[in-house]
Amino acid sequence: MEDLQVYPVHKCCRKEIVACCDLINSEWPRSKMARLQSLCNSSDKFPTSLVLMLNGTDVVGHLKLTELRVGGGDIMVESVVIRKDHRGKGWGKVIMEYAEEYVRSKGKKMLYLSTRGQEGFYKKLGYEICQPILYFGFSDITPQPVEKLEISSTKKDVINCPNAPPPPPLPTNKKPASQPTLISQKPAKTYMCKHFPHSFVQSLL
Ligand SMILES: CC(C)(COP(=O)(O)OP(=O)(O)OC[C@H]1O[C@@H](n2cnc3c(N)ncnc32)[C@H](O)[C@@H]1OP(=O)(O)O)[C@@H](O)C(=O)NCCC(=O)NCCS
Repeated sequence: MEDLQVYPVHKCCRKEIVACCDLINSEWPRSKMARLQSLCNSSDKFPTSLVLMLNGTDVVGHLKLTELRVGGGDIMVESVVIRKDHRGKGWGKVIMEYAEEYVRSKGKKMLYLSTRGQEGFYKKLGYEICQPILYFGFSDITPQPVEKLEISSTKKDVINCPNAPPPPPLPTNKKPASQPTLISQKPAKTYMCKHFPHSFVQSLL
């Protein structure tokens, strides 16, 4: 019988933190130092990285919860990953559901995420497609589900940011004709969200 438990990474030992770093890097390679730094920022306040442990020894899953600066402290879930040899066993669902309970226990009501290609997984967990949100930018936009947004057709793409630097000059087309044009092969990100109404007890607090 497999024993699965979820822990905040800041409650894990050094070996487990390094194993978690390697797991995330196996999916999204990045400098180990930067990755460890990010994991070491985890705390009981957000950001919080959660680790899925198998039999108390093996790190088999991870996700990170970061508080958005707008939207009343809604939460972004990032870097959701299950170790390759354990995918398709329901463990992604286990860590996501734990994260939802964790977030709810902290009084938060909304989880956001972005994905390229795993929309089906999140849809099964009750997430809905929503408008893109800026969560690291200097001009955060209050996130709202798609159907609730009313965007004026004239101001659709304009973000009013008075202190922003002027835009860079338009490129001059001086490339030799033989040089290939680089076009990003990545599909666009899909933004999704899930709202958790407070429990009756929480609503009395
Ligand atoms: C996405 C990921 C976390 C899912 O974890 P997992 O453990 O394989 O998923 P689960 O077994 O818990 O799946 C739960 C349910 O979602 C379904 N599901 C999983 N991936 C799916 C997909 N891509 N499309 C549609 N349904 C999917 C499963 O069939 C299962 O359905 P069921 O409850 O009816 O049986 C895992 O595949 C992974 O680590 N992928 C690589 C990293 C990645 O892309 N992360 C997402 C970043 S946004």
